[in-house]
Amino acid sequence: MAKENIYILGIESSCDDTSAAILKNNSILSNVVANQKIHAEYGGVVPELASRAHQSNIVPVVHQAIEKAGIDKNDLDAIAFTRGPGLMGSLLVGTSFAKSLAYGLDIPLIDVNHMQGHILAHFIDEKDYKKPPFPFLAMTISGGHTQIVQVNDYFDMQVIGETIDDAVGEAYDKSGKVLGLGYPAGPEIDKRAQLGNPKAFKFTKPKVKGLDFSFSGLKTAILYFVQNETKNNPNFVKENIDDICASIQYTIIGILMDKLKLAVKQTGITHIAIGGGVSANSGIRKALKDAEQKFGWTTYIPKFEYTTDNAAMIAIVGYLKYLEKDFSEIDVMATARLKF
Ligand code: KG4
Ligand code: ZN
Repeated sequence: MAKENIYILGIESSCDDTSAAILKNNSILSNVVANQKIHAEYGGVVPELASRAHQSNIVPVVHQAIEKAGIDKNDLDAIAFTRGPGLMGSLLVGTSFAKSLAYGLDIPLIDVNHMQGHILAHFIDEKDYKKPPFPFLAMTISGGHTQIVQVNDYFDMQVIGETIDDAVGEAYDKSGKVLGLGYPAGPEIDKRAQLGNPKAFKFTKPKVKGLDFSFSGLKTAILYFVQNETKNNPNFVKENIDDICASIQYTIIGILMDKLKLAVKQTGITHIAIGGGVSANSGIRKALKDAEQKFGWTTYIPKFEYTTDNAAMIAIVGYLKYLEKDFSEIDVMATARLKF
């Protein structure tokens, strides 16, 4: 007889968050995330420091996830871990740990593509959360990714557009650096944007064919704009910070929405699911709500803790693969540029 409940441990260590989660079937029992504060001093993720921090965090984070879930490690049915894409030194920590524990407990090991994790996070059971129906379009927007994926089924998905340079979160963070804001600057730009005039300053949108994105030009345009204006008025940024943030946000959200509209036009799919840290942004949330009214789209944004990098999204992919008996060999390798 099939086991009634399946317990999966998920491990995520692809960038600068060390996370472990326990899933009982589709439901989360625990989702522990240790953020690495060290990178703020450097204005961006420093790979070597990230790897070292994962090494000190991984054991306590996994321990805490098991304890919070109220289970014993011997109750686990499988261990799912992020194989890639991500920073090699970071991925290696989670991969090696997952392999050793799965070997020690003699349970299956399941490798997970981080990007599929962001997408399948929509299938975690959550009270009052409606899951998207197949097919849907998934847009993942974060500090590391900007991607539109057509999702036909759990494991039948195709990238139809992605950034050719910076990710959208990077555009926020790098613009913030030019403006003298702290790292990561996305949340602060968003806060200030709500107080300013989005049409105060005009930044041109990049011309990129099809569904691909580009954000590196915007960062340069903002840098030149600020340099130019401060020549005439050294207090320009201080005096206009809310309007500058509102104008940056207006441009960025315009770029994202233009591509989403094109994706809907090309595919005929109107169910849109958003993931990644930038999905917290008030501008994108408002634009999606407006699109529901105006174009009849249905949009889906999961609980914030499942949109940023977290192990719950890795565990749900693990669970879905477990049902398919899609297990990994013990010699599976972490892969920095993993495709799906
Ligand atoms: O998913 P995430 O936590 O980490 C990865 O990058 O994988 O995303 C972090 C990114 C940062 O670039 C941060 O500035 C951005 O998400 N971010 C925001 C907002 N909250 C976080 N960007 C714009 N508006 C926000 N409210
Ligand atoms: Zn991510």
